[in-house]
Amino acid sequence: MNIGKLQLKNNLFMAPMAGITDLGFRTIVREFGAALCFTEMISAAGLTRGTVKSYRYLETAPHDRPLGIQLFGSDPAILADGAKIAAEAQADLIDINMGCPAKKVLKNGAGAALMKDPHRVAEIVKKVRGAIVMPLTVKIRSGWRENKINAVEIAHIAEDCGADALILHPRTVNQGFSGLSDWNLIGEVKNRLQIPVIGSGDIRVPDDAARMLDQTCCDGVMVGRGALGNPWIFKFIVDHLKHEREREMPSPRERQKVIERHLEMTIALYGEILGIKNFRKHLLWYTKGLRGSSQFRQSAVHIREKEDLLESVNRYVQSLDNNVIKLLDKQNK
Ligand SMILES: Cc1cc2nc3c(=O)[nH]c(=O)nc-3n(C[C@H](O)[C@H](O)[C@H](O)COP(=O)(O)O)c2cc1C
Repeated sequence: MNIGKLQLKNNLFMAPMAGITDLGFRTIVREFGAALCFTEMISAAGLTRGTVKSYRYLETAPHDRPLGIQLFGSDPAILADGAKIAAEAQADLIDINMGCPAKKVLKNGAGAALMKDPHRVAEIVKKVRGAIVMPLTVKIRSGWRENKINAVEIAHIAEDCGADALILHPRTVNQGFSGLSDWNLIGEVKNRLQIPVIGSGDIRVPDDAARMLDQTCCDGVMVGRGALGNPWIFKFIVDHLKHEREREMPSPRERQKVIERHLEMTIALYGEILGIKNFRKHLLWYTKGLRGSSQFRQSAVHIREKEDLLESVNRYVQSLDNNVIKLLDKQNK
């Protein structure tokens, strides 16, 4: 699939996610097949003011390609300047966030507040388009609330003003992240646009991706929460779409290897103290639903040193292996 001149190896995208899609996480999901990853949303104003925190979100590496840098803001000129900075920071694509429902973002007229301001959407897309040469995408929601669904209108504006693709998360702002996303709306938007449309929402198992592509005819599928603790989902979707037999879920040892690599990269990014703190949520997701995981997590949250955490993960995985061996012994008797 192509977005503007950007060629992608498949049509599977990792969703931008605040506090999650940093360089470490992106590295892992890319290894399992995600064709395009995004930074979390970055304040365009923060970049233009030189805020250290905003610049840290730009951290990337040569293997972290192709990379979409997502910006949020409400001022067209500031977003255009932010896009120029992002372009210099090795972006392969710039995305504008028009879907974030967080109060602190909305109160500045940014994120999903833009769904209420079509005129501003047009100004933003035109101005950013004029500032950069790489592909530009816009990520939107259904609309403000149930009786104010205007995704088709906003999508048309984005296309007419120069966006190269449209990403739709079909929940209203009121819905936040609850309820189901309305895939029919993805189909409707796809029907009306010439540029590629990427659907986001409720892809939890490989067949969801196949169904979304089939039901909506969208060009690409974006995975969000379904990839947390489960980067394998991309490989499984690729296999499923090729009608190849899906692999078994990763063994405890495979899981351990991914946890170790992800932890190493998180510590390399943030240092040991903050890295371990940031990694706790991932550890929770990686072990969710596994035998004895709540007990393991209760003790793991208190660990502050890398070596201790690695040892604790190793002990836990060994206990899972032992359980499998015991089960096999029992079956063989
Ligand atoms: C914790 C969290 C953080 C998110 N951060 C962002 C973000 O920075 N930018 C954005 O456009 N969407 C963000 N989203 C929305 C996702 O990109 C995605 O559109 C949404 O979660 C629906 O997909 P899913 O059902 O597969 O999770 C976030 C969602 C969650 C749950």
